[in-house]
Amino acid sequence: MIEKKRIAILGAGPSGLAQLRAFEAARLQGVENLPEIVCYEKQNDIGGMWNYTWRTGLDKHGEPVHGSMYRYLWSNGPKECLEFADYSFEEHFGQPIPSYPPRAVLKDYIMGRINKQDIRKYIKFECPVRWVTFDDETQKFTVTVMNHKTEQQETEEFDYVVVATGHFSTPNMPYFEGLDQFPGRILHAHDFRDALEFEGRDILLVGSSYSAEDIATQCYKYGANSITISYRSKPLGFEWPEGIKEVPLLTHFDGNIAHFKDGTSEEFDAIILCTGYQFHFPFLEDRLRLQTHNCLYPENLYKGIFWQEHPQLIYLGMQDQYFTFNMFDAQAWLARDYMIDRFELPNEADRQSDMDQWQAKRQAAKTCYASIDFQASYVRDLVNLTDYPDFAVEKQAEILKEWQEDKKEDIMGFREKSYRSTQTNTLAPQLPKPWLEIKDDTLEYFLSLNFEPLKKEA
Ligand SMILES: Cc1cc2nc3c(=O)[nH]c(=O)nc-3n(C[C@H](O)[C@H](O)[C@H](O)COP(=O)(O)OP(=O)(O)OC[C@H]3O[C@@H](n4cnc5c(N)ncnc54)[C@H](O)[C@@H]3O)c2cc1C
Ligand SMILES: NC(=O)c1ccc[n+]([C@@H]2O[C@H](COP(=O)([O-])OP(=O)(O)OC[C@H]3O[C@@H](n4cnc5c(N)ncnc54)[C@H](OP(=O)(O)O)[C@@H]3O)[C@@H](O)[C@H]2O)c1
Repeated sequence: MIEKKRIAILGAGPSGLAQLRAFEAARLQGVENLPEIVCYEKQNDIGGMWNYTWRTGLDKHGEPVHGSMYRYLWSNGPKECLEFADYSFEEHFGQPIPSYPPRAVLKDYIMGRINKQDIRKYIKFECPVRWVTFDDETQKFTVTVMNHKTEQQETEEFDYVVVATGHFSTPNMPYFEGLDQFPGRILHAHDFRDALEFEGRDILLVGSSYSAEDIATQCYKYGANSITISYRSKPLGFEWPEGIKEVPLLTHFDGNIAHFKDGTSEEFDAIILCTGYQFHFPFLEDRLRLQTHNCLYPENLYKGIFWQEHPQLIYLGMQDQYFTFNMFDAQAWLARDYMIDRFELPNEADRQSDMDQWQAKRQAAKTCYASIDFQASYVRDLVNLTDYPDFAVEKQAEILKEWQEDKKEDIMGFREKSYRSTQTNTLAPQLPKPWLEIKDDTLEYFLSLNFEPLKKEA
């Protein structure tokens, strides 16, 4: 009898679930002798980042809380650009829904695809991975996890390890002189949970990317008195309503007074560091550990997923993300094909040369539009190599560009825009009232709204 290969998937967020779903698709196709799979998940449910938690700091087992999402979070990009190619929003909700749903609605969609199949049986919940090593002689990985359900450590051997633990969870926390004497609350975006905490307050956000943009709009929506965004490289540059402004980088604090590079200063009640996240894999030995920053093509990953030195180690979802769910799917499908010997890897030199070409393309992509096109061409490359259902990657890239323009036009109202699904061709209905006025972000409330069908040319 041929010995079955064994695969460990680390994490059951959208990327880990994509990997499980890819194997399930092969099983449904009748592929025989599929590998044995164990998925280790630190939390007590699937969904990864989309699993809202009120906790901050440590969880009930003393493990670092993974979640960085907060109450009232809505999708920051059009749902049409993250629709699974094998499961449309319409199929899940039984009706068309607007283009920008709240978190709970997207989570329900992720759960829907998984619940249709018997995939949970592969997942061991409350099992944070502690340590992974690779034996050059046996060519096997040893994975040690803490099983909090049994309170025992478990160690098993695997032929492949898929790292799908995300990279927006461990805060990057810079220090600014005087922070230690600041009399108000200081937190990182990772620990931000409820904008109502800042109602009537003057708050300072440091950083000028998606977290700063979104936390600023949330805090405005829920009644902060003023919001100041301090940027290092460049301002977000939107036309902000009165009450939100951008200033150059913070230099230091003097009590509750922040001083900025342009010589201005101002008093604040609270500071939120929206300064991004670290790639943090404390369970991997150095020679296996991806060391990178948030970018579109991390180094040493062939096709963005296979670890160059030991391709039996696979990373999913490690890119900065214009595309998300369907990109993770395309990656997972290719990873699966490699693990079931359907996709043969080229030799090390050829893999390096392929990565070098992608790096050169990435470096040439200087604008936002070029970056979107770059990631679209990356996803297209993956889709072409697999039997993941073909989807209109390039059309979705055009929607992402429209999204950029819509944000420039109205940063507080872009979530009222509608786009056409590239899967079902349905134009999303409109939100019945302005996003700023919809304060209830629950699934039940959202689905009870009367969505207006939109008439717009294809
Ligand atoms: C605030 C915020 C808002 C976002 N909003 C959007 C949005 O609107 N649209 C969008 O498309 N994307 C958004 N994203 C991006 C989001 O990260 C992706 O959509 C998606 O969740 C990434 O999936 P993932 O599986 O790679 O990682 P994650 O979702 O982070 O899942 C990783 C999983 O690994 C588990 N894990 C971690 N460490 C271990 C360990 N040691 N052992 C076992 N398990 C472990 C975690 O518990 C988690 O379940 C947002 C991200 C953040 C931080
Ligand atoms: N509603 C939503 O859907 C939503 C909300 C929030 C976040 N997100 C997602 O979360 C992910 C992470 O976004 P993010 O904004 O947290 O991280 P990010 O995109 O990596 O941006 C980090 C920001 O921090 C700044 N920064 C880093 N170190 C700094 C320092 N020492 N001093 C000052 N500024 C510093 C960076 O400035 P430079 O530009 O100078 O490098 C950059 O502006 C994204 O994928 C985003 O889509 C989504």
